[in-house]
Amino acid sequence: MSTESSLRVSATKFNSESKSDAESLSKVSFLFVGQKESNEYAVTRHSYSEEVFQIISNYCRESIQDLNLAVDVGCGPGNSTVGFTKHFKQVIGVDISETQIALAPNNIPNCQFKVGSATNLDFLQAGSVDLVASGLAFNLMPQEETLAEFDRVLRPGGTLAIFGYSIPTATDPKLHGLLQKAFIEDLTVLPKQLAMVYEEYKNLEIPYPGWVRRDGLKVKFMTSMDGLLGAYKVLDRWLGGNKEGGNIEGHRLRQLRENLAAAFPDSYKHSSRGDFETVFNVFILMGHKPKP
Ligand SMILES: C[S@@+](CC[C@H](N)C(=O)[O-])C[C@H]1O[C@@H](n2cnc3c(N)ncnc32)[C@H](O)[C@@H]1O
Repeated sequence: MSTESSLRVSATKFNSESKSDAESLSKVSFLFVGQKESNEYAVTRHSYSEEVFQIISNYCRESIQDLNLAVDVGCGPGNSTVGFTKHFKQVIGVDISETQIALAPNNIPNCQFKVGSATNLDFLQAGSVDLVASGLAFNLMPQEETLAEFDRVLRPGGTLAIFGYSIPTATDPKLHGLLQKAFIEDLTVLPKQLAMVYEEYKNLEIPYPGWVRRDGLKVKFMTSMDGLLGAYKVLDRWLGGNKEGGNIEGHRLRQLRENLAAAFPDSYKHSSRGDFETVFNVFILMGHKPKP
């Protein structure tokens, strides 16, 4: 299977579980809440390329020329937030997890971070925000309430941008095969929030007329063995391995570790060295809140 042809995952392969939002959310909260989980996430999750922030900011400028306030909801340690500081006078990152917010940078003059929920952004006045952004987090949020709150805080003409990138592929064919096996072939049923990510939010619609979807952009990063295994650890936890947060790996993670160690012994030994070029599909959904 070539790298290019297998970049896109066939959504039909996955049956998403039908659980209520509340049930599913409580199931995933252990992924991003807690010191250990947050530390691991912060070191393994890459940021987005400058191009992604540029595309979103340019789209905002089509409707509003003077960009004041951007709010990134579900910002994690700030990797989806900081790139907006070049384009907006003020940027606020919001996340429900205190431990994620504690890892966000605190030395950027026009950027601040707050603990808060997507469904209750009460520190923001109605109609005060030029951009509400959410990077790979909307799939974890109660969608209707969240969209209502985003709409409340957005000013007329403001932009809602929901974006993300999904699972890693690699330019090295041997590594690519191992990632395909671990991230795709070995999985059958995915929780619905994870299925949304694999499907690159294909069924999601921005509730504003004329909204657009941008696909085809890719981001490339040099990733270490620790980074590859760290990213898979989140998935492994989500799918039930290592649920207690202890040191026992789920069988999928153990298998990937063993396969990587056998295929790339030197990189495994120097596990923090960024040896592997990984490639991700970026997807961006954007719409302007109608002006009266
Ligand atoms: C996969 S991480 C994405 C982090 C970052 N935006 C990125 O693109 O890498 C999802 C984040 O959403 C946060 N989150 C989940 N539900 C939330 C909610 N209802 N309100 C605010 N943040 C939420 C989680 O705590 C987690 O930090």
